[in-house]
Amino acid sequence: GGIPSLLLPTGDGWSAEHIAQQYIVPCMRSYGICVKDKFLGPRLGEAVLGEVEALNRSGMFRGGQLVSQRSIPSRNIRGDQIAWVEGHEPGCVGISKLMACIDQAVMYSAANGQLGSCVINGRTKAMVACYPGDGTGYVRHVDNPNGDGRCITCIYYLNRNWNAKVHGGVLQIYPEGKKVMANIEPLFDRLLIFWSDRRNPHEVKPAFATRYAITVWYFDAKERAEAKEKYRLATGQKGVQVPVTQNSKT
Ligand code: OGA
Ligand code: OGA
Ligand code: MN
Repeated sequence: GGIPSLLLPTGDGWSAEHIAQQYIVPCMRSYGICVKDKFLGPRLGEAVLGEVEALNRSGMFRGGQLVSQRSIPSRNIRGDQIAWVEGHEPGCVGISKLMACIDQAVMYSAANGQLGSCVINGRTKAMVACYPGDGTGYVRHVDNPNGDGRCITCIYYLNRNWNAKVHGGVLQIYPEGKKVMANIEPLFDRLLIFWSDRRNPHEVKPAFATRYAITVWYFDAKERAEAKEKYRLATGQKGVQVPVTQNSKT
């Protein structure tokens, strides 16, 4: 499908297309990791945060599941509570707009082979995650180590006044074959994009305050099709494919 013609502006007034061309594409090509601050702007960012807090209050969050390693108690690996959101649910208007903005940024970035062979044909629902601040994090892992079809991870952070020295919760990425490490603070209105495969092992350091993030994974058409052939895909929400936003005027 084509890219919707409506260009959603982001928090600094640039269109998603502009940010894709001028910023995300060169960043991904050079580093495989891209951080974009002021992604939605404070008003929409606050609206999304309010919706996430309401989801949490209403008891929608469950202990994060593990696709593999079912024998290990999951809390020892990841301490987050999660809820999957499609966007049409009541009370999710802001989250739905966020997903439309991320969809546009990713689709414009991947257009015309700009991100190599990566051809996006869908994504997961949004995984809303809350680390409760009890000192749990998420041990070092690769999101897609075995070719399940996910090629790009996007994480939108929602934490105002986050002080990593006090609250921890930094995402550390160890890009494969490089001696550098990326330390990403989970700051309010920050969008992080990175390759989901073995190029980017990462871990969430222990968090000592409530830490909210919303993650979506984009599927590469070819890898996804091959994965469906090869494996009985793990059941669960990370295996559920939904189309990217078709009409962003909602
Ligand atoms: C941005 C951006 C590019 C420019 O602020 O994200 O895309 O041309 N800037 O200044
Ligand atoms: C994940 C993950 C990182 C973060 O959910 O797979 O790595 O910063 N999250 O929340
Ligand atoms: Mn991860």
